[in-house]
This record gives sequence, structure tokens and C-alpha cells, in this order.
Amino acid sequence: GSDDSNGSGDGDASGLDLVTDGTLTVCSDVPYAPFEDFDESSPSGFTGFDIDIVQAIADGLELDLVVKDSSFDGLQSGLALNAGDCDLAASAMTITEERKANLAFSEGYYDSLQSLLVPADSGIASIADLEGKRVGVQQGTTGEAYANENVSGAEIVSFPSDAELYQALQAGQVDALLQDLPVNLTHTTDGRYTIVEEYDTDETYGLAMKKDNTALVEAVNEQLAALRDSGEYDELYDTYFSE
Ligand code: ARG
Repeated sequence: GSDDSNGSGDGDASGLDLVTDGTLTVCSDVPYAPFEDFDESSPSGFTGFDIDIVQAIADGLELDLVVKDSSFDGLQSGLALNAGDCDLAASAMTITEERKANLAFSEGYYDSLQSLLVPADSGIASIADLEGKRVGVQQGTTGEAYANENVSGAEIVSFPSDAELYQALQAGQVDALLQDLPVNLTHTTDGRYTIVEEYDTDETYGLAMKKDNTALVEAVNEQLAALRDSGEYDELYDTYFSE
């Protein structure tokens, strides 16, 4: 940056302490549609509700956006951010007290539920029917935590990504998936799989940042508030979540 008169080291013109000057470097575990997905035709190479939100935040802060595909477990544990891999994690990440020990969160930007996805012809109608079955979850997620607390008599199998989780269901390696509702919904479109239960876990997603980067947390919250005020947030929401 040009003006570093505050002597704080590597601040740039934005006054923010960023991994790369002039760039908002964002980590995301992709694919996790409709929140994050690959898209060759988009400037960042990615698309989704989270990606559009961080693009708008970067624009508002006059920063370039760079998105890096990362493992969710490394994001939710704080490892990737604390290692300086990125400035912010935009990864449909639920704000939890446990995560707040290692990360700072923005204001919430999306409310979600858990859900149980099964083959349409499986006969599994509820979590109680999982006895003796295998249920797939994604490592480090709130879905994994929910399964650990609420599924009994079933084998809980953890996969690093939602893509591997869904593949395991298609290959018959697991009998059911416990995952965030909007994401499980994307796996129901061909009719082979269906959601038999939704669980109101009262989850809200936030953008995660390094705990000590208060300037960035404040700047991000200002941008989120501006997106809500301008109606841009609602437009994005409708783009991805209207029926
Ligand atoms: N909302 C859940 C959690 O915070 C799952 C998020 C997984 N996100 C992803 N991009 N794979 O644990």
C-alpha cells in the first residue's frame, strides 16, 4: 500500500491487514451448492450465494477477490486462517461457541437447518430408522455433531467433503446423509434421493476471520449492513433461494 503512515506494518490503502495487499483472499470448501461451486465463466472462477456476497464485500472495500478451494475441517478449526492461507472463510459456516474460541465471525447472513437425505426407495422415514445402518456426514461440520448426538445404533462415517459424501451415497457405501438442508436439497433434483426429515438446529452462517483482525471484521460487517440496506442482499437471496 501507499500510505503506511500509521506504522502498523503491512496495512494497505484500505487500512486493513490483509494476506495480500489490495486483495481479499477468501477460502471456501467447494462444491457446496448453492453456497459455493466452481464456475469457469465467473471472474473469480467460482459461483454461489457466499461467493456473490464476498464479491460484493470486496467491491465495496475496493479490493480484488481471490477465492481458494480449501478443506472445511481446516477452515472451521481456524487452522487455515491462522496459518495465513486467506483473510476470510466463506463456507456456509455455522457460527458456534466452539468455533468462536479460534475464529471471529461476521454478523449472520443465512439461517439453516439440518436434514436427512436417503434413497427414495430406502424405507428410511426418520432418524430412528437408521439403527444398524451407515450414515454419512462431512468432517468437522455441525451435521457431524448432530449425528453424534442424535443417531443411535448406526455407524457414522465421516468424509472430508460433501462431494465425497454424495458419491458414497450413490455407491451405496452409506444409507443416508446428514447435511445442511439447502445442500441436501441440491441432491434431490433427479428424484433418486429424498429428504425425509428436517431438524431445526437454529444455525446461522457467518463469515469467519482471524480472531485478532477486528478491523476486517468491522469492515465486513459494514459491507454486510450496506448490502442489506441497498436491497442487494435480498436480490442475491432470491437468486439462490426462491422457489
Ligand atoms: N454449516 C455446516 C457447518 O458449519 C456445514 C458447512 C460446510 N460447508 C462447506 N462449504 N462444505 O458445520
